[in-house]
Amino acid sequence: MKNILLVFGTRPEAVKMCPLALELKKRPSFCVRVLATGQHREMLSSVTEFFGVVPDYNLGVMAQGQTLYDITEKILRGTREVLEKERFDLVLVHGDTTTAFAAALAAFYARIPVGHVEAGLRTYDINAPYPEEFNRVAVDALSAFCFAPTERAARALLAEGKVAGRVFVTGNTVIDAFRYTVREDFSHEALAFAAGRKLILITAHRRENLAVMKDIFRGVSRALAKFPDFCAVYPVHPNPAVQSAARTAFEGSGQVKLIAPLDVFEFHNLLARSHMVLTDSGGVQEEAPHFGVPVLVMRNTTERREGVDAGTSRLIGTSEESVYEGICAVLGDGEVYAQMARAVNPYGDGHACERIADAVEKIIDKR
Ligand code: UD1
Ligand code: UDP
Repeated sequence: MKNILLVFGTRPEAVKMCPLALELKKRPSFCVRVLATGQHREMLSSVTEFFGVVPDYNLGVMAQGQTLYDITEKILRGTREVLEKERFDLVLVHGDTTTAFAAALAAFYARIPVGHVEAGLRTYDINAPYPEEFNRVAVDALSAFCFAPTERAARALLAEGKVAGRVFVTGNTVIDAFRYTVREDFSHEALAFAAGRKLILITAHRRENLAVMKDIFRGVSRALAKFPDFCAVYPVHPNPAVQSAARTAFEGSGQVKLIAPLDVFEFHNLLARSHMVLTDSGGVQEEAPHFGVPVLVMRNTTERREGVDAGTSRLIGTSEESVYEGICAVLGDGEVYAQMARAVNPYGDGHACERIADAVEKIIDKR
């Protein structure tokens, strides 16, 4: 029996790691423990509760207005304590958050091999997204095993000198999550708000976008005003800076409804029923194409180039003008819209967790 520790702490990591935890727990060769850092609180617990994954450890580090120093330090020390309680053969982290970086570093210092799920994503701009590009590069650098969601991500890892036999192309586990979340029957107040109009889903939270969020939102408001048949629902991230920018831009708007963050079941089902998504999220860029929902990315660069290359996503920048024009270009041209909505999803077939678990069985057997 091999002991595996899965670590996650934010909403997107939980969405993508809970299906993997469930798959690993099915396999008799593993003893699986889950460490939640608690970098997020309500947004994390709503996901773990939905999937029925109960963390064995919870560091509970979240504080209002937390800084990168706070979370890095607390997670590094907290993970170390957990690693000293039990003997682990492998630590699995996910993606590019500070949780992933600090937990991977703790395992590396403890000389426990790290497996990086969703490895190899790159913008090659260390400041965008910030600090995620650094986190993902650093986690890959110290990881013994890399689970790349796409061939492109695997190529990036090999180009950086990773050894071929330690890089596995698996697909993205977020597509596996849909087996748990997506339902035929779904109703929500947001759908009632949109009745008779076409629904656009908005998410925005990136640290490097906080300074330009008011410009982004002005571009969104101007574009929507031009298309009265459309309306938008925006579940606002709890970060106080995001809350304040969203309220200032959209409070009182008849076209944009601000709501609390949705649980993952609600979000996936609403996404599946949306006409389009406006987002600066990473995960949403992978999810929307699965439903044939075009994605306009309110960023200047993306590590999810596969969606852009497949024609499902477009980068529309972060200035008022570029956001305005980017939205108008799609809403104002049925042919452009149809082409984006037809494109295929390059992020996986829903069996990524099995592939990762198979790879872990092989890796761990040899140790
Ligand atoms: C973090 C990740 C980012 C990821 C995002 C997903 C880092 C540096 N950033 O950014 O990569 O895209 O999560 O959402 O790892 N808050 C709550 N309740 C919660 C969660 C957050 O109130 O459940 C508030 C707190 O005031 C917190 C603030 O949001 O201080 C920011 O949270 P933090 O994890 O530092 O950054 P995110 O922007 O969420
Ligand atoms: N999500 C959610 N509720 C919301 C908004 C997003 O459950 O109100 C989910 C979404 O389906 C995706 C993940 O959260 O799985 C993306 O998280 P986020 O955009 O916060 O982080 P990122 O992917 O940019 O790191």
